[in-house]
Amino acid sequence: MKLKFSIIISFICSLIFGQNNSFGPGKFWKDTEGVHINAHGGGVIFVNETYYWYGEFKSEGKEGNTALKGVSCYSSKDLYNWHNEGIVLKVEEDPNSEITKGCIMERPKVVFNKKTGKYVMWFHLELKGEGYEAARAAVAISDSPKGPFKYKKSYRPNKGVWPINFKDEFKSPSTDERNLKSWSPEWISAIENGMLVRRDFKKGQMARDMTVYVDDNDKGYLIHSSEENLTLHISELTDDYLNFTKKWSRMAPAGHNEAPAIFKKDGIYYMITSGCTGWDPNEARSFKSKSIWGPWETLGNPCVGKDAELTFYSQSTYIFPVQGKNDQFIFMADRWKPDNPIDGTYVWLPIIIENEKPILKWSDKWTLEDFNQKK
Ligand code: DGJ
Repeated sequence: MKLKFSIIISFICSLIFGQNNSFGPGKFWKDTEGVHINAHGGGVIFVNETYYWYGEFKSEGKEGNTALKGVSCYSSKDLYNWHNEGIVLKVEEDPNSEITKGCIMERPKVVFNKKTGKYVMWFHLELKGEGYEAARAAVAISDSPKGPFKYKKSYRPNKGVWPINFKDEFKSPSTDERNLKSWSPEWISAIENGMLVRRDFKKGQMARDMTVYVDDNDKGYLIHSSEENLTLHISELTDDYLNFTKKWSRMAPAGHNEAPAIFKKDGIYYMITSGCTGWDPNEARSFKSKSIWGPWETLGNPCVGKDAELTFYSQSTYIFPVQGKNDQFIFMADRWKPDNPIDGTYVWLPIIIENEKPILKWSDKWTLEDFNQKK
């Protein structure tokens, strides 16, 4: 009865005030001022009864995928209606700054650090004019979820440190690796055995697509596409979440995964990723593990139904729990529009877990109430 009443009230509000009362994956999603939300490759946190959505602020035209403004933030009480809080990490005018206007800032994720009381933002940074060569993880910090975030620094993580469980024999090459043909069996096996870890050992490992995960015990991890996007790295963060502890592992070596998104349910970690096809969609992958350090078991494509082989024309970016529900997780993904990035839309879907496997089904329109019906 209570449920029906709230559905009727939200329907009436949507008619009178133009409010949203459902999710419409892939459609233009208007903020409370009627403007399409501009927070791509993003993530969501919940603080003081409010959700905050951070993402890449895109601009019109082909140049719009570079950071011309910075990272945007929106706030919401109900996950359907989002208020624009503005740009919370601004690019800088100083041409010598690492985050000068025109650099690339992708996939920003914010977490709260209970020890320091600070909000910590990690993102993938590429230096202006250098394409995707720098492959750095960058960090910024704020006293408030609404920013402003102050840029701190960027890293090539895990400089001079071998991953855990890395065999001694892999620490130096057994044969000449220089002339191996890409994707030949010998080359794949060399990648699996750490050829690129060795290459980047002194300089630090690459960090492109990434997410941040804070576990139940408050330990933080950066999960990043590394080794030319061929292998994911899971790097433990220091207690303040601003640096790396030197403990790290490799996941799915030579698996070619991007866009990692992670959640944990009933003690099991689940990860959803994509393949690597630039801005074009491809088939998602899923994994599970009893430990963040693996071994990770491959579970295949989590999407089912029409367009499942293209992740419903989207690419994962984040997974978060509905507040107070430890069994309701929302999958966030982007439908990129590289010709006019500002038109990119968002695909949010409820995650169904069946026999320890995450399942994503398309829905044109859904509400949080649908979680209850899925039980
Ligand atoms: C795919 C990545 O997932 C995006 O974040 C972005 O880096 C594009 N590649 C660039 O082509």
